[in-house]
Amino acid sequence: MSAKIIDGKAFAATVREKVKSHVTRIKEEDGITPGLAVVLVGEDPASQVYVRSKGKQTVEVGMKSVEHKLDAETSEADLLALIDQLNNDASIHGILVQLPLPKHLNEDLVINSIDPAKDVDGFHISNVGLLGTGQRSMVPCTPLGCLMMLRDYHGSLSGLNAVVIGRSNIVGKPMAQLLLGDSCTVTIAHSRTKDLPEVVRRADIVVAAVGRPEMVPGDWIREGATVIDVGINRIEKEDGKTKLVGDVDFESVSKVAGAITPVPGGVGPMTIACLLANTLTACCRANG
Ligand code: GUN
Repeated sequence: MSAKIIDGKAFAATVREKVKSHVTRIKEEDGITPGLAVVLVGEDPASQVYVRSKGKQTVEVGMKSVEHKLDAETSEADLLALIDQLNNDASIHGILVQLPLPKHLNEDLVINSIDPAKDVDGFHISNVGLLGTGQRSMVPCTPLGCLMMLRDYHGSLSGLNAVVIGRSNIVGKPMAQLLLGDSCTVTIAHSRTKDLPEVVRRADIVVAAVGRPEMVPGDWIREGATVIDVGINRIEKEDGKTKLVGDVDFESVSKVAGAITPVPGGVGPMTIACLLANTLTACCRANG
């Protein structure tokens, strides 16, 4: 058997189209342009690529994009002052501070200084609490993108066994909350989990978000399971060239799974599409 490939790139394009047509309408009818501010501190190369891509796609759907690139030595006080200014700027509906931050900056303090209504990453402690209690919140973009693909493929997720591998605040924990919200039976597995292969074999849905290249082999996967691969790992091949791989060994897993997201072209494109959707949502909520 060969798994169906869940095309995140194509799905993300449809999400962006929907966002774009909604943006066009509120610009025409209400004279409002949703605005997203992205703050980058320092020169982390991967972060620079992400930020550029976010800015480009924000403009492509007709929104206002503002980028603040700060020196790696920026003080916490200066960063907090910028966030305060963005919190009070009515033309900005979404604020994203690119992570990781340089070591001298307190990430929790910085994230929690963002107005929760503008926290399009869904990382603010208020949004984490709202999501955990099933209330309206801003939902982190990567897990939201995964959920959209799962709902699209399965229809209802009710009663399915879901195993999330990885317990990060950005992906693993919110992913588990979202799956629970859709009435899955959820297990969060991590580096200390006993008999991890056995745990994963029970899953109808596997979400791999550990950041370890090709860690999940095909013989951990139950026949017909749906596999969502959140990993984006750059590895060096034998010929010295580099290649992007997920947390899942695509070759063996795709022979057993019912459906699988590829890397690249799976979860990655959905993350930015969901950021745009969250910015639009924040704008609509701000304007009643
Ligand atoms: N760094 C890696 N992923 C993310 C993300 O989803 N949001 C932010 N702000 N930084 C990140």
